[in-house]
Amino acid sequence: MKAALYDRMGNASEVIRVQEVETPEAGPGEVRVRMRLSGVNPTDWKSRSGVTPGRMDSFQIPHHDGSGVIDQVGQGVDPSRAGQRVWLWMAASGRRWGTAAEWSVVPEGQAVPLPAGTSDELGASLGVPAMTAHRCLLADGPIAGADVLVAGGAGAVGHFAIQLAKHLGARVATTVSGQEKGELAARAGADLVVNYREDGALERLRDFSTDFARVVEVNLGANLALDLALATPRTVIVTYAATGPDPNLPVRACMTANTSLRFVLLYGVPRPQLELAVSDINDALRSGALSELPIHRFPLERCAEAQMAVEEGAVGKVVVELP
Ligand SMILES: NC(=O)c1ccc[n+]([C@@H]2O[C@H](COP(=O)([O-])OP(=O)(O)OC[C@H]3O[C@@H](n4cnc5c(N)ncnc54)[C@H](OP(=O)(O)O)[C@@H]3O)[C@@H](O)[C@H]2O)c1
Repeated sequence: MKAALYDRMGNASEVIRVQEVETPEAGPGEVRVRMRLSGVNPTDWKSRSGVTPGRMDSFQIPHHDGSGVIDQVGQGVDPSRAGQRVWLWMAASGRRWGTAAEWSVVPEGQAVPLPAGTSDELGASLGVPAMTAHRCLLADGPIAGADVLVAGGAGAVGHFAIQLAKHLGARVATTVSGQEKGELAARAGADLVVNYREDGALERLRDFSTDFARVVEVNLGANLALDLALATPRTVIVTYAATGPDPNLPVRACMTANTSLRFVLLYGVPRPQLELAVSDINDALRSGALSELPIHRFPLERCAEAQMAVEEGAVGKVVVELP
């Protein structure tokens, strides 16, 4: 099969190449998926560049997320799954068969049926961003009826944090850096969109709520003062990104707010919580509660450029199309 792959870490244009490799077979408990789209996330370029180095077999096909059709089931898997349209999550976690190839092989629970009417593009956008958003929202209990602040609501995680929070019955405020991102966040369904670079952002957020149950935080270093100014004993500030410099922790201000800090890294979330995320995301898909961000398409031959686009902060979802 044709696959994008690398066998050492480095710049995308130097280490990613497209070549023929053996087509994988589904082992016991696995399914093989004929990929249609491979979704690219920041974690993919961080793994490839060595920013977050991991173990590598003789080569690594990149990308965790994607959508496609099951064309082979391994021993112990219900044969009726063959032909099913699916979305994939964590395909490249501890395995070489990422989604940037004509076929990927994953444990069957990591190929999730796509509800009828859900596009391949949305399917390829879900894994890392929507599952991270789900964990950030729900690690500390239900949010029905609660107020939630999502920092960076036009980002991939931010987008699904808004939509899952709304689906789960919360009111949602979000912050963005400008008009285009503001429109995306409003379209995602946020009840309030605030430009965090403008004066009065804190006051507008305070007018919206004095009782945020969650802050889903993409940049704790930049936003800790704002978050603490809004925090109450009920608030959990949940950080999922190491964007920007680490904050100096203002211990007295944290004590005064009686607030809680939580950190999320998808790779270490316990399996039952990952399975809950999958189930809630498919429930949201069936209800029509989730939508795509703008899609940027690259053919497999330009996989390196696709990763570079994400590295450079593309607004929307970058996908690689499989021939
Ligand atoms: N912990 C995990 O398991 C996990 C999972 C997924 C992603 N991540 C990490 O999370 C980060 C975001 O991922 P993504 O896929 O959502 O990326 P993305 O689509 O590029 O979105 C990032 C968003 O954050 C916004 N942002 C940056 N600084 C901000 C600030 N100070 N206040 C508010 N918004 C701010 C950006 O917009 P502006 O700069 O224009 O404001 C952008 O819209 C990446 O570093 C990624 O590696 C971690």
